[in-house]
Amino acid sequence: MDFHHLLFSVSAFSMFTFLISYPSLANTTTDTLTPNQNLTDGQILVSSNQIFALGFFTPGNNTTNSGQRYLAIWYYNLPQTIVWVANNNNPINDLSGHLTISPDGVLLLYNSSLARVWYTNETIAGKNQSGPLVLQLLGTGNLVVRKQDEIDVNEDYVWQSFDHMRDTMLPGMKLGWKLKTNTSNFLRSWSSSDDPSDGEFTFSLEPPETPQLILRRGPNKEYRWGPFDGDRFSGGNRLRNNTVFKPMFVSTADEIYYTFEALDSSTLVQFIVTPLGAIQYLTWRNGNRDWSTTMEVNRLYCDKYGMCHGNGNCYADDPPCKCLQGFVPHSPQDWRLYDYSEGCKRRYDLNCNDGDGFVKYNPLKLPDNVVVWANYSSEECRAECLKKCDCMAFTRINPLGNGSQCVVWFGDLIDLRDFPDGGEELYIRMARAEIDSIAKNKWRKHIKVVVSVTILSAFVLILAILGWYILRQKRRREEDTISMPIAHDRNSFPHCLEESQEEDFELPMFDLATIFASTDQFALGNKIGQGGFGPVYKGELPNGLQIAVKRLSQNSGQGLVEFKNEVILIAKLQHRNLVRLLGCCIQREEKMLVYEYLPNKSLDNFIFDGMKRKLLPWSIRFNIVLGIARGLLYLHQDSRLRIIHRDLKTSNILLDSEMNPKISDFGTARIFGGEQTEEKTRRIIGTYGYMSPEYAMSGHFSVKSDVFSFGVIVFEIISGRKNWGFYDPDHDYNLIGHTWKLWNGERSIELVDEILHGSFSENEVIRCIQVALLCVQHRPEERPTMSAVVFMLSNENVELPQPKEPGFASERSAIKMDSSTSGQDFNTGNDITFTTVEGR
Ligand SMILES: *[C@@H]1O[C@H](CO)[C@@H](O)[C@H](O)[C@H]1NC(C)=O
Ligand SMILES: *[C@@H]1O[C@H](CO)[C@@H](O)[C@H](O)[C@H]1NC(C)=O
Ligand SMILES: *[C@@H]1O[C@H](CO)[C@@H](O)[C@H](O)[C@H]1NC(C)=O
Ligand SMILES: *[C@@H]1O[C@H](CO)[C@@H](O)[C@H](O)[C@H]1NC(C)=O
Ligand SMILES: *[C@@H]1O[C@H](CO)[C@@H](O)[C@H](O)[C@H]1NC(C)=O
Ligand SMILES: *[C@@H]1O[C@H](CO)[C@@H](O)[C@H](O)[C@H]1NC(C)=O
Ligand SMILES: *[C@@H]1O[C@H](CO)[C@@H](O)[C@H](O)[C@H]1NC(C)=O
Ligand SMILES: *[C@@H]1O[C@H](CO)[C@@H](O)[C@H](O)[C@H]1NC(C)=O
Ligand SMILES: *[C@@H]1O[C@H](CO)[C@@H](O)[C@H](O)[C@H]1NC(C)=O
Ligand SMILES: *[C@@H]1O[C@H](CO)[C@@H](O)[C@H](O)[C@H]1NC(C)=O
Ligand SMILES: *[C@@H]1O[C@H](CO)[C@@H](O)[C@H](O)[C@H]1NC(C)=O
Repeated sequence: MDFHHLLFSVSAFSMFTFLISYPSLANTTTDTLTPNQNLTDGQILVSSNQIFALGFFTPGNNTTNSGQRYLAIWYYNLPQTIVWVANNNNPINDLSGHLTISPDGVLLLYNSSLARVWYTNETIAGKNQSGPLVLQLLGTGNLVVRKQDEIDVNEDYVWQSFDHMRDTMLPGMKLGWKLKTNTSNFLRSWSSSDDPSDGEFTFSLEPPETPQLILRRGPNKEYRWGPFDGDRFSGGNRLRNNTVFKPMFVSTADEIYYTFEALDSSTLVQFIVTPLGAIQYLTWRNGNRDWSTTMEVNRLYCDKYGMCHGNGNCYADDPPCKCLQGFVPHSPQDWRLYDYSEGCKRRYDLNCNDGDGFVKYNPLKLPDNVVVWANYSSEECRAECLKKCDCMAFTRINPLGNGSQCVVWFGDLIDLRDFPDGGEELYIRMARAEIDSIAKNKWRKHIKVVVSVTILSAFVLILAILGWYILRQKRRREEDTISMPIAHDRNSFPHCLEESQEEDFELPMFDLATIFASTDQFALGNKIGQGGFGPVYKGELPNGLQIAVKRLSQNSGQGLVEFKNEVILIAKLQHRNLVRLLGCCIQREEKMLVYEYLPNKSLDNFIFDGMKRKLLPWSIRFNIVLGIARGLLYLHQDSRLRIIHRDLKTSNILLDSEMNPKISDFGTARIFGGEQTEEKTRRIIGTYGYMSPEYAMSGHFSVKSDVFSFGVIVFEIISGRKNWGFYDPDHDYNLIGHTWKLWNGERSIELVDEILHGSFSENEVIRCIQVALLCVQHRPEERPTMSAVVFMLSNENVELPQPKEPGFASERSAIKMDSSTSGQDFNTGNDITFTTVEGR
């Protein structure tokens, strides 16, 4: 052994002299540094697979910090991509930095005055030293101190950079806890893209007993997924398997961690926390010579920590917050104005000693601050929770993957989220009165269903008999052959709208039986959407034609006016960018509209969906923008009437099989006669996020209100992000304000959905953004008409006016202003759309 050691020292010494005369370690492309060698600025270590390099670098291209040198690991063959920095908080101000490894395994980074700029303090002491130590850069990007003459099968390194994460997690790194030493390894963002010092954001796994993944800004939680339930982090679908990454959660007696692998090990991937707090999976695209964001984990509104505060439940919907069943807003007034900061309180107070019980909720993202109790069964868990008066909720999960546990929550439930797609069930404590009222409601509903089914069947029977009788009478009078579902001869059928018989309608009338049969008796599985006036069902006529049937709610008396309005309007409108009304059905209590069925559903299903958004390349998105503009122009100007839509939004834009946009839902439109261009309404119909300032605040609407909504839609199409619920860690603006900010910084291109990167026309995008900014100007007079919009969009060489600061750039301030004009009826729920519901 000793002899061997001596031999090594001699060879190391000769290498050392070699270095003195030829200080170009770089060209030797070695991956190891031995004691007595120095790695100086300009030299690098390269991993044996030629993927990673260790050396000195200066981040960014900011000339003011050009003197700042950091020891770092980067991808050897890619343009500067740093994955790890040693002295991130203590740069060296000149080129004098050099790294050495001491014989006992301590790494030391010196500057010219020989101060230790950075060092490690794990030493070989205590470990079994059987050979000299070396520093080696492995092919995984891990920089390790290990015994030179041993192959480390069990990765028992003296020190490794993988245990000291910075902002980047590479495959194989472990985000979590070493239980023996009680140490945590977590990600921390850089301060800015050219400053690697400790930034504000950390992403960690905590606490070890009930692992949750938490992004913090300073000490505050910003996002949270968990607890781990044996299969996944509650609410963290984006932290699960996908086509590129295989995330894993591992729990053993020694360690607990989150890690990931690339499914195809030849692709370069990383998981990073950006200086702005975005958590992203990145993939290297050789074609683009750049990193692309395969997935951003924290981009949903409801992902943000505690959006709906105590006992509020967050929905991917508008409005986003609702109280849990059995709870009501602390301040209904604030709640109505989208201010959720006070959360929800119980409708009935608990009475611990008498009659409290539990109501089962599912599926949810579980709330924060879970406490593990014991290995109880569900019944024991319930009984124990009931005994403790402050125990608010319980469920059973498998937090460490080695057995189910009874877990409970105390106090208000924070950071809940509706999670139909694989949430967990949760049992929440309720007062007896609440439980009774729920039971009563259920019973009432049953009765209602029974009664209405009975009435309906009687009604259908009478109808059938009547129909049969009329038919027989008719047949006797004239030999006729009516059996087609769609009447093409309007004289042979009763009229669609009974009161307006004399008006000239060319609208086919469908009979109730046909509709019933085509939609399978309005089977739940055929329901494709739900609006304020009633549900929408998919149907198929006997001749194979697919239809969408909007069924007006029987109990929504106020919907009748809108229904008639819509029938009259749509019947007269024909344009390739408007949804076509095929007919209607009005028999006694039933009022229905029959539309063409568009299999691709609505635009929001595509642009806000992680996978489906890929189906909309820029050319198609541009075409959709133009199509919507043309449809709207037709409504405003080219049709016989002047029609204002008043509830234009992405879920009201349907797509046909060739992705042509078709505007739907004219239920809220108004006809304008002649010169009348503006009207004031008391009843505001529309959707927050798309409403123009003058409409939302004082009920004034005009064609320019639609122009405003159109501008918002264009931003959403370009960015793939929603205006309402837009979140940027950097500022308080909504999507409009964000766009305006980028526009002012001449960075508009950054708005573009990253999925489009490298495949769009910059000119077209800039043109669209500029036009859309003009559309969302604060004052209606400053917005262009739709004809100007269509002209500006379709003529490349037209000089466009410069936009000024848009209206509603910050949604919060808009809401504050709004509270001064009370007495308005925000009817945000009254939107009849084809938004998808659970397909069963
Ligand atoms: C490394 O070698 C290449 C040619 O093999 C040469 O062009 C380059 O200048 C060398 N670099 C250094 C730092 O000596
Ligand atoms: C390496 O650095 C140490 C400390 O600065 C210095 O004493 C030593 O001479 C250097 N060795 C070489 C080979 O440059
Ligand atoms: C910094 O580099 C980026 C590209 O990496 C470039 O777009 C930018 O103009 C550079 N800035 C300066 C001040 O050189
Ligand atoms: C360059 O860095 C300095 C300090 O690090 C900063 O004040 C300055 O704004 C930066 N300049 C640019 C163009 O980023
Ligand atoms: C070397 O680093 C020490 C500690 O960080 C610092 O005080 C000293 O000024 C540095 N020397 C030079 C020449 O930069
Ligand atoms: C280990 O070194 C770091 C600096 O690199 C220092 O912050 C830490 O306190 C040291 N730990 C011990 C136990 O000496
Ligand atoms: C050290 O390791 C060697 C072999 O690797 C073994 O033979 C020896 O017993 C170990 N010594 C101690 C004290 O563990
Ligand atoms: C582990 O360390 C954390 C702080 O980092 C501390 O709160 C906790 O009590 C420690 N756990 C044990 C078992 O020492
Ligand atoms: C992820 O995929 C792997 C194989 O592709 C499978 O073994 C594993 O069970 C999956 N994990 C989850 C949570 O679906
Ligand atoms: C699960 O693992 C943890 C940590 O390893 C341990 O403390 C606990 O007792 C285990 N539980 C069961 C049911 O095995
Ligand atoms: C947990 O409880 C189940 C059933 O009561 C029992 O079979 C199991 O052994 C228990 N596990 C532990 C670690 O106590």
